Amino acid sequence: MRPSYKRAGLLLIILGHSVWNCILPATAMMSADLDAAKALAENQCATCHVIPEISTTGAEAAPTFVLLANQKTTGSWEELATILKSPHWPENGSPLSGTDIDNLIGYILSFTEK
Ligand code: HEC
Repeated sequence: MRPSYKRAGLLLIILGHSVWNCILPATAMMSADLDAAKALAENQCATCHVIPEISTTGAEAAPTFVLLANQKTTGSWEELATILKSPHWPENGSPLSGTDIDNLIGYILSFTEK
């Protein structure tokens, strides 16, 4: 009896872990404050990035938020988290807080097309 209990326990831990890894980005996305992110994006990103409902013009070299959400190199929680940790916009170099980054990622990924 005992060994099989042990195995079941181990299996639960492994399963639980992988389920958690899938759920974690999803819950972070759900808890993202999209209104706060939209205001932040309007203030700090929209001069360069084209953003739905906010700006239709931007710097030519800057990808639109829709593109960011849908291209492979930027369209995931992990990629965006890495990118947004170091600001690339010179005139407003203040780094974003962790909460700002989470909110912005949720906001950008809300433009993901299926
Ligand atoms: C002064 C103009 C400017 C501002 C302001 C700006 N960006 Fe950008 N951004 C760019 C340009 C130009 C690029 C493309 C070149 C590059 O990747 O650095 C870019 C690229 C990006 C990328 C993709 C980077 C990559 O590695 O592919 C992300 C994500 C991004 N911006 C997010 C943001 C967010 C979020 C904000 C606001 C908090 C913001 N940007 C503000 C000009 C700007």
